[in-house]
Amino acid sequence: MALRDKFGRAITDLRVSITDRCNYRCVYCRTGSEGPQYADLKLDEYLRIVQVFVDLGIEKVRVTGGEPLLRKGVVEFVSELAQLRTKSAKPLDIAITTNGHLLADLAQPLKDAGLNRITVSMDAVDAEKFARITRVNNGFERVLAGIRAARRCGLDPVKVNCVLLRGFNDDQIVEFGKFARDEGVIVRFIEFMPLEEDRVWSPQVVVTLDEIVSALSAWKPVRQLPPNTASETARRYTFADGIGEIGIIAPVSHPFCGHCSRIRLTSDGKIRTCLFSLLDHDLYRVMQDGGDEGAMSAYIRAVVEQKEARHHIGESGFVPPSRSMVHIGG
Ligand code: 5AD
Ligand code: SF4
Repeated sequence: MALRDKFGRAITDLRVSITDRCNYRCVYCRTGSEGPQYADLKLDEYLRIVQVFVDLGIEKVRVTGGEPLLRKGVVEFVSELAQLRTKSAKPLDIAITTNGHLLADLAQPLKDAGLNRITVSMDAVDAEKFARITRVNNGFERVLAGIRAARRCGLDPVKVNCVLLRGFNDDQIVEFGKFARDEGVIVRFIEFMPLEEDRVWSPQVVVTLDEIVSALSAWKPVRQLPPNTASETARRYTFADGIGEIGIIAPVSHPFCGHCSRIRLTSDGKIRTCLFSLLDHDLYRVMQDGGDEGAMSAYIRAVVEQKEARHHIGESGFVPPSRSMVHIGG
């Protein structure tokens, strides 16, 4: 039996943060200064936990952070994940989300280790705007090189995530349309969610799906593509000539909680059942207290039961989550 929550949603997708350190300080995520940092687990501790999740029916693991490529041993970690088998004896689907800063040198080793898919965050196709958002200089060229290295070594698809913020990069929509077509990557625009440390979120800062579609269409007509899977978060589009794919992830204007298949493990071994959870579930403590696979499994099942129905972004009384994105894990 697959892992299911009390609303009947099958939980098949685990995101594992392997560090909450990051070499960037994106305005929609962290503060400009060094924030608190939680202790990371050892890589074989994450592996042991992932194994329990996989035995419960997880089919896809996304390695995240913080910035996961900062973690020494990430390539070996991916090759260990690649050894695991799902309940239906298939290899795990292994993905990684990275800011791309260290990717140029790691793309090929990661691919060789068994990585299936990669998502790189890039919020402007312009070095200056990129620096203003990430609060790091000379990152743009490195990330571009990382994306190209990923393409070259045959990681397919390469997805590029862009969080649009009004006043920062809302003029980059068409530029990214061109980028998707020229570079052969899937560009995914993500609506800004209130997950950041600086509390700059307001509905006015969010660039919505409708706005993105209008901006793209004014440049070149777009048409929608059918979803790949039922729990896919992105609405997919291409241009009239079929060249270039754009995804729009619209958790604010078009929430998709009803078919959420995700659960997260933080770098300090806590389960988070939703990005907007107000509490953590300390799976690591269960393990440290000598819990065997059965005990961990029972704990996970009980926690999954409590998965939130949905988020409440934009509603009165919305309470921001108790951790910002960098400490949760994308
Ligand atoms: N809203 C939307 N997306 C965010 N991300 C980080 N913080 C936010 C936010 N507040 C994105 C990153 C990364 C992915 C893991 O989540 O850009 O691509
Ligand atoms: Fe780092 Fe990603 Fe957060 Fe940016 S969004 S600060 S790259 S964790």
